[in-house]
Amino acid sequence: MHIKIISIFPEMFYPIINYGITKQAINKKKLQIQLIQLRNFSNNKRKNIDDRPYGGGAGMIFTAPPLKRAIHFSKLKSKTPIKVIYLSPQGKKINQKNIDELMKNHTLILICGRYEGIDERIILTEIDEEWSIGDYVLSGGELAAMVLIDVITRFIPGVIKKKQSLIEESFFHGILDCPHYTRPKKISGIHVPKILLSGNHKKICEWKIQTAIKNTLKKRPDLLKNINYKKITKSKL
Ligand code: ADE
Repeated sequence: MHIKIISIFPEMFYPIINYGITKQAINKKKLQIQLIQLRNFSNNKRKNIDDRPYGGGAGMIFTAPPLKRAIHFSKLKSKTPIKVIYLSPQGKKINQKNIDELMKNHTLILICGRYEGIDERIILTEIDEEWSIGDYVLSGGELAAMVLIDVITRFIPGVIKKKQSLIEESFFHGILDCPHYTRPKKISGIHVPKILLSGNHKKICEWKIQTAIKNTLKKRPDLLKNINYKKITKSKL
């Protein structure tokens, strides 16, 4: 997967390039990240990329011409399907299900806005989809883009070794994950549930499903509305 990021703060992405699962994916050549400085596409000496909004109002807006040039530059030489995504609080909310849609595109161009946003005509003519990471306003799209990249990377085939770990984690079946325990067997007077030490895989599997449902009921009952229980109980957790 190839992800190109257009931003005025490309250095903000160094942590995901240098740490964790994204770094591993880059090293394995499963993920390629290209940082594009929007200011390099400004036509003026001061490298301005923003201006005051027509009609007045607080804050500045990213002007259309540098963005347009940066997007066209990013599309050059790409032979695979490309999707141009604008990270914005007005976008469709990212969840585990709709990540699949994005994975179908080999190349993603992520536009990170700042200030009050970008000129609407870019959204109308250049952007394929607007995506949000939640109903709150961040000071820029960079953090949202990093969240999106992290979520996507975990689903690139070959990045996470055990497919099982994806199947078992929260949201895979639309519900939360079961509780987890590791050594020592007793801590703060609380023992590891006996069933997990029994070696009985069928019973352990049932326990995982039951506790996952209980956990969801307690913490996120809203998730249980659209759940296919048959599918969960049939699946090999
Ligand atoms: N930019 C600012 N706020 C955002 C949000 N909630 N999601 C995605 N991009 C954003």
